[in-house]
This record gives sequence, C-alpha cells and structure tokens, in this order.
Amino acid sequence: MATWSAPGKVFLFGEHAVLYEKPGIALAIRPRVYVTVRKTSHPHHAKSPYIDQCFREFGVKGSVYINSQLPSSSGLGSSAAVTVATLAAINDEFDMGRSKEQIAELAWKIEKKVQKGRASATDTTVSTYGGMFLIKEGTRKRLAPQNYHLVIGNSQISHSTSRMVEKVAELRSKHPAIINPVLDSIEAIVMDAMKHLDEPAYLGKLMDMNNCLLEMLGVGHPQLSRLVLAARSTGAFGAKITGAGGGGCMVALAPKNIRARIAGAIEVFDGRAIITCIDTEGLRKERDA
Ligand code: PMV
Repeated sequence: MATWSAPGKVFLFGEHAVLYEKPGIALAIRPRVYVTVRKTSHPHHAKSPYIDQCFREFGVKGSVYINSQLPSSSGLGSSAAVTVATLAAINDEFDMGRSKEQIAELAWKIEKKVQKGRASATDTTVSTYGGMFLIKEGTRKRLAPQNYHLVIGNSQISHSTSRMVEKVAELRSKHPAIINPVLDSIEAIVMDAMKHLDEPAYLGKLMDMNNCLLEMLGVGHPQLSRLVLAARSTGAFGAKITGAGGGGCMVALAPKNIRARIAGAIEVFDGRAIITCIDTEGLRKERDA
C-alpha cells in the first residue's frame, strides 16, 4: 500500500490567457488530496477518467482510496492533484521507478487527454513541485515563494473548465480585434506583477484589473462578483476569479489580520471560505498506516 498527497493551486494571474501563448502566475495552496493505492486481485476505485487513465499509462491494476480536502470542479486544481498523487502512488506501489519530472509530464499528458487537448501545464506543475511558478507554454520558472495571506471563496456553483475554455475561444474568433488586446493586457499584468511579487498591496490592484479582463472574456458569474466585492469591501488588497470561472472560486490577497473578516463576508454572501497560504512541498509521500 502506498499513500501520496498533492496540493491544490490558485492562479494569481493569467488563467485562460495561458492557453494563448501568454504567461500566467500560479501557486500551490495548503488544502491537499491524499491518494492510497494498493495492489489487489480485486481492483476497485471511484469512477474517474483521470484515475482510469493513470492506471492505463502504467499498464497495471489496483485499488484506490481518495481523501480530498479540495472541493472538486471548483478551479482549485483538484483533478490535477488527484492525477499527480495517483501516479506517484502507483509508481511507488508497483516500483515503476519514475522520477518526479516524469510524473509531472505524465500528469499533464493525462489532463490534456481527459480534457480533450486544451489544458495548460499549470495545475500539474504547481501540484507536483509546490511553491509558485511563472508558466508559459509548457515552460516553467520557479519564483521565490512569498508569504501571501489568501482567502478563497467557493461560489459552490459548478462549472465546466472545458465549457469555459470553449466559450473564450468562441468569443475570440467572433471578436478578435477586441479579445486579442484583452489577452495582451493580461500578459502586461503578469509582466508587471513579476516586478512586484513582494508587494501584496500592489499585486492586489493588479488582481482587480485581471478580474475585469476575465469578465470581458465572459467567464464571470454574478455570485463570483458578489464574493469578489465582499472581499474587497472588507479590506482585501485585491480579489479575482481564479481558474476557469463561470462558477467555482475567487481568491483574495489580504493583510494577515483581516483574513477572518474577509472569510466571514464571503460566508455571509453564501460562499464557502478557505483561509490559506502557499504550499512549498508539492507532491509528498505519506507514512503508511
Ligand atoms: O478551473 P481550473 O482549475 O481547471 O483552471 C482552468 C484554467 C484555464 O487557464 C482556463 C485552463 C488551463 O488549463 O490553464
């Protein structure tokens, strides 16, 4: 039996734009997914195309038990965390000898396969290595981890990442002269953010701008707007949709002493709040029970 865990992620800047050759900044966050894999003669596991694909890639069969602190389909990278941790647990249980690098690559390949081609390497990279990264078209640059205080608001409105990705693609092909400059502006935000990573108040303003641009891409939702405004009006440095949008989560960057107040405001507006910070460990082996 082998148990491995992997963290979730938030996009600080650049979701959607990363699918158009633009850079994005994402970081691993504390809630994790724990996956136990066991060699058995009667394999069974919860229905998941990601898990099926992990076993197919290794050509083995086994039982899987998942314990997740991450809400699924909410934009916090739970499918990537499940994939990365499942691959690592199979690798360990069946002595397949794959490196962390190979697991990250394989996890990205599986995400692309299950999501029919359109998935950036962001989720799988961040979940495997932990910390913070600048991602651009399959390349990654590790950034110095910052002590950001984050409050996530889950709108509890389910969304489909592939549907939102399609929606942006449609909007862009219909209005290229409008949407291409929006993607360029998101890139400019990421480049500016890179020069101010240790200034949360400055980054907050950039998050607010990035949120407006995500709204222009058509991935906003009234409930996400309520949570974003609730976070800003209680003193966050800035707040924005994180992930695919259309539902799912928003993230606020906050001064440490008012995180609880922001979380309370999010709950008042029917969101589920998670107070969190950066995870620097990434993929981790858990002690066998
Ligand atoms: O909602 P999530 O966590 O799957 O994030 C999607 C982010 C996109 O940029 C829209 C897609 C991607 O693969 O990066």
